Amino acid sequence: MTRIAVILGSTRPGRNGEAVANWVFEHASRRTDAEYVLLDVAEFGFPLLDEPVPPSRGQYTKPHTLSWAETIDSFDGFVFVTGEYNHSIPGALKNAIDFIYAEWNNKAAGFVSYGSAGGVRSVEHLRGVMAEIQIADVRAQVMLSLFHDFENFSTFTPGQHQVEALTPMLDQVVAWSKALEPLRASS
Ligand SMILES: Cc1cc2nc3c(=O)[nH]c(=O)nc-3n(C[C@H](O)[C@H](O)[C@H](O)COP(=O)(O)O)c2cc1C
Repeated sequence: MTRIAVILGSTRPGRNGEAVANWVFEHASRRTDAEYVLLDVAEFGFPLLDEPVPPSRGQYTKPHTLSWAETIDSFDGFVFVTGEYNHSIPGALKNAIDFIYAEWNNKAAGFVSYGSAGGVRSVEHLRGVMAEIQIADVRAQVMLSLFHDFENFSTFTPGQHQVEALTPMLDQVVAWSKALEPLRASS
C-alpha cells in the first residue's frame, strides 16, 4: 500500500505545528487510499548537519542519519507541515531534509503551512528545495492563518473550509506518489 508521511517540521517548545500535524494526520487517517504515518523531526534528535560527505553520495555514517534514511526510504510521498520563520522554513526542517538525498527522490509532496500570511512564503522556498531533492510537489495546498485559524495565535481552531482544502491536496499527493512508482522501481 502507498505510504505517506506527515512530517512535522518545527521543533520549538510550544510549537503550533504539533496541533496542525495532528489535525492533518487525524483527517488523513480516515482515508483508505494510503497508509499515513506522523513523523516528528524533533524525535530524531538531529544535530546541525554532521555528515562529512555530501548526502547525494549516500555515504551516511551517523546513527541519526541512518535511522532517518531508513524511515524516509519506507515512504512513497510526504505532507510537510511547516510554519514560517523569517519568510522561510524552520531551520530544523531544512537541516533534516539536508541529511539524506536518494531516499527523497522520485516521490511526491504536498504542504500544510501556517503563519500570518498562511505560511505561503515558507512553502514557496520549500518548493525550490523539493526540486533539488527530486520530489514532485503538488499544486493544492493548505494555508492556515494565525489570525483566523488560531485563537490568540496559539489555539488551533481551523475552519471547515480548511478541511475542504486538505482533501484535494491529499488526493494529489497520493495520485502522484502512485504515478511515480515505476520510476522508483527502476532507480
Ligand atoms: C524565528 C521565528 C520567525 C518567524 N517569522 C515569521 C515570518 O516571517 N512570517 C510569519 O508569518 N510568521 C513568522 N513567525 C511566526 C510563526 O509563523 C508562528 O510563531 C508559528 O506558530 C511558528 O510555527 P511553530 O509554532 O510550529 O514553531 C515567526 C516565528 C518564529 C519563532
